[in-house]
Amino acid sequence: MNFTPMIKQYLQIKEQYPDAVLFFRLGDFYEMFFEDAHLASRELEITLTGRDAGGSERVPMCGVPYHAAESYIARLIDKGYRVAICEQVEDPAAAKGIVKREVVRVVTPGTVMESQLLEDKNNNYLASVVPGKDGFGLAVADISTGSFLVTCFSGAGARLGLTEELARLRPAELLVPRSEVEALNSMLKLAEMPLISGYCEAAFARDEAGQALARQFGAAFGEKQRIFASESMVAAAGSLLSYLRETQKRELAHLNKIQFYQTGRYMVLDEATRRNLELTKGIMSRSRKNTLLDVLDHTVTAMGGRLIRSWIEQPLLDRDEIESRLEAVGELVDSVFLRRDLQDGLKNIYDLERLVGRISFGTANARDLIALKKSLVHLPGLKSLLEQAGAALLRKTGHDIDLIADVLALLEEAIEEDPPLSLRDGGIIKVGYNHEVDRLRTAGRDGKIMLAALEERERARTGIKSLKVGFNKVFGYYIEVTKSNLHLVPEDFQRRQTLANAERYITPELKEYEDMVLGAGERLVQLEYHLFQEIREKVSAGIGRIQRTAAAIARGDALVSLAEAAVRGGYTRPVINSEGEINIRDGRHPVLENVLNAGQFVSNDTVMDDRESRLFLITGPNMAGKSTYMRQVALIVLMAQTGSFVPAAYTGTCLVDRIFTRVGAADDLSGGQSTFMVEMNECRAIVAGATNRSLIIMDEVGRGTSTYDGISIARALVEYIHLRIGAKTLFSTHYHELTDLERLPGIVNYNVAVKEVGEDIIFLRKVIPGKADRSYGIHVARLAGLPEEILNRSAEVLKSLEPVQESSRQLAAAMEYAFNPLTQDNLKVAEDSFQGNNSVPGAGGCYSINMADHPVLKELRSLDLQNMTPLEAINKLDQFQKSLANQDPK
Ligand SMILES: Nc1ncnc2c1ncn2[C@@H]1O[C@H](COP(=O)(O)OP(=O)(O)OP(=O)(O)O)[C@@H](O)[C@H]1O
Ligand SMILES: [Mg+2]
Repeated sequence: MNFTPMIKQYLQIKEQYPDAVLFFRLGDFYEMFFEDAHLASRELEITLTGRDAGGSERVPMCGVPYHAAESYIARLIDKGYRVAICEQVEDPAAAKGIVKREVVRVVTPGTVMESQLLEDKNNNYLASVVPGKDGFGLAVADISTGSFLVTCFSGAGARLGLTEELARLRPAELLVPRSEVEALNSMLKLAEMPLISGYCEAAFARDEAGQALARQFGAAFGEKQRIFASESMVAAAGSLLSYLRETQKRELAHLNKIQFYQTGRYMVLDEATRRNLELTKGIMSRSRKNTLLDVLDHTVTAMGGRLIRSWIEQPLLDRDEIESRLEAVGELVDSVFLRRDLQDGLKNIYDLERLVGRISFGTANARDLIALKKSLVHLPGLKSLLEQAGAALLRKTGHDIDLIADVLALLEEAIEEDPPLSLRDGGIIKVGYNHEVDRLRTAGRDGKIMLAALEERERARTGIKSLKVGFNKVFGYYIEVTKSNLHLVPEDFQRRQTLANAERYITPELKEYEDMVLGAGERLVQLEYHLFQEIREKVSAGIGRIQRTAAAIARGDALVSLAEAAVRGGYTRPVINSEGEINIRDGRHPVLENVLNAGQFVSNDTVMDDRESRLFLITGPNMAGKSTYMRQVALIVLMAQTGSFVPAAYTGTCLVDRIFTRVGAADDLSGGQSTFMVEMNECRAIVAGATNRSLIIMDEVGRGTSTYDGISIARALVEYIHLRIGAKTLFSTHYHELTDLERLPGIVNYNVAVKEVGEDIIFLRKVIPGKADRSYGIHVARLAGLPEEILNRSAEVLKSLEPVQESSRQLAAAMEYAFNPLTQDNLKVAEDSFQGNNSVPGAGGCYSINMADHPVLKELRSLDLQNMTPLEAINKLDQFQKSLANQDPK
């Protein structure tokens, strides 16, 4: 087709960015054409029009004004699109033929800089994942803050490790080699899937990736190269940098430090556990309200907010590190003044990390620099407060704050206090900073004074009282006279414009002053813009120091926040032990105790160790408080390892390597899994990943299937966890049949007490030793207000089931006698039951194979005795005997 040169240019550029919506700058608009126009008009709800393009048909087009583009881009990014921004890169007035245009940046979900799209207290990550010979390399960058992290996952748990880390980081966009898109897409089962971007293979190749790293990190990288454990890490980090370079088309100087980290430094929390414990997001509400983060986050800076979130999501394993946080929090709890003074100072600190991002990105405006300046002013106060503290971590934090006095002085001297948003309107540079700026300003001001004087003089000369000097963009300055006064206009007025009820004139004198005002004004704006860029560059030379300071500020803020939470919640400092004991006195659930009215929450004790009470079997009526209690224990342990004080009168705790939870029935219909399947998947993850240093919470496992299957699975799980894994476990169940597992040393029954008053029950919320005697399901149903008719009918049904219950109890007893070797005699059989595994020392050394599923038993159960002759029965018995003989151990 014979398109116009402009459309040809468009098509040429679009060809290079097939995956992005192309914002094509035309004057004051960004226009989209063809497919992009359809897409944009649909997604942005803007009118689709057409444009003559040289051919017979008009091409579809729609556009957005350039000054409002940010919010439109934000909406497209939010919907998972990429946007390529194409600007006019030469002055249209100077251009011969068509104006030169180039894509200056591609905005993708993982490379957003626009503050409209960023949440203050969340990181926005772009991640790159590379499958290698021995696992996966992972690199993550947040270009809005400049953080750049690299790690790897190898060995048997590599997949799981990667998935869990991605679930924690929640990157907005994931870069993978193009050929791996499919594979990774199906491998990663994340609740919040990032946009997966296939990227050219070459960028992941060793040489190219290495070069990208060397280019970004220079000499520093050379030294660090040795630390790279695997090629896949180089590939991940290098490809990520290439992608950033390609999409951002500029130097990202604030990405100046690679942080290598090992997930092994932190407590592992899988996605299910994070969700179940409602660390940062409610299971139902999906919001941050009533989460642990909500309770602990009293940070006043955005940096602190992001840090405390990552602390909660990555509890520590190193005792010294935990103790040093606890020490700092302790001092801040004790010293009201220090805490208040720090909070007061911190309040004034803007988001330094993102300011630095914009400065080095070249998008910071004068207001950003003023925000930086206002922050810097408060550094000396904060530094000296922290340096004078007693706790080592506070002093170190103070020490890490760089005052950046040179940058502060420059900004004080150069930038106006309240500058305009735009950099093209002047009004940025302070008086006294630059001679020429001052001179032009005076000239402009003089010109304006002259114009005012001229207006006065002309009024006097002509006798037209309403004569006025005005200005518009087309004609510049003019003298306006209303129609009724036209007869008074002198000869030397030259007419320029006629309006409905006025005429506009100019005079030579007027034009002279106009030159003074406008000429000076134009030059002034340009000069100010130029000076501003120079200043921004000078500031950008200091970004390393600003970043270090930002990190220190974040840490200080997070520590103060933990102290604030401790004071508000009446928390105490946990005592870490190496004896494998968890000893909580009067523990509370940190979130629920806030939701309930004061004094309503009933506290509970927990005493667990590696010997006598390692696995709690918790029974009790519905609504009694089982789930709450178990989560409370998990949260207290997690808080302690975060370095936080905890909601209890006293807490002694050992360090756990992982916390696992299997809680309630969370449907994952969108993930294509049934309730029961989700449950079993989570159980598998627990069994595969737990160690004897882990803490496991299992809430009513097996509930999602038929009673007998449920009991069998639950029982086998308890036995396996207890005997083979040896993890500290809280296991709640409504299957009272399980409570006789108490005979295994280390398993203890607990129940949540209730008081029966006639047909009602009163929940006491106290966790006490021993098993619950009954379920009270119907009582709870009554509490819920189920119609009396239904309640009565259920009571009837329950009664009629009693004989059945009795007989099933007898059956269970019989089964146990026959197959359950919880006696010394059968120890040997039990030892062999889980082949290839060693039992946990101190677990009582016995385990029963679960015989319930034995084929003989299955068949026995299904025999239709009514329709069998005695002979058939005898034959069957013979057959059973033979088959059992075959399976007997030699
Ligand atoms: N220690 C406590 N103090 C005060 N109220 C509590 C306490 N524990 C639980 N509750 C209240 O009881 C409600 C039910 O608690 P929870 O969900 O833990 O019961 P449950 O025993 O797990 O019940 P179900 O068997 O139905 O799952 C909570 O929502 C809370 O309002
Ligand atoms: Mg429950």
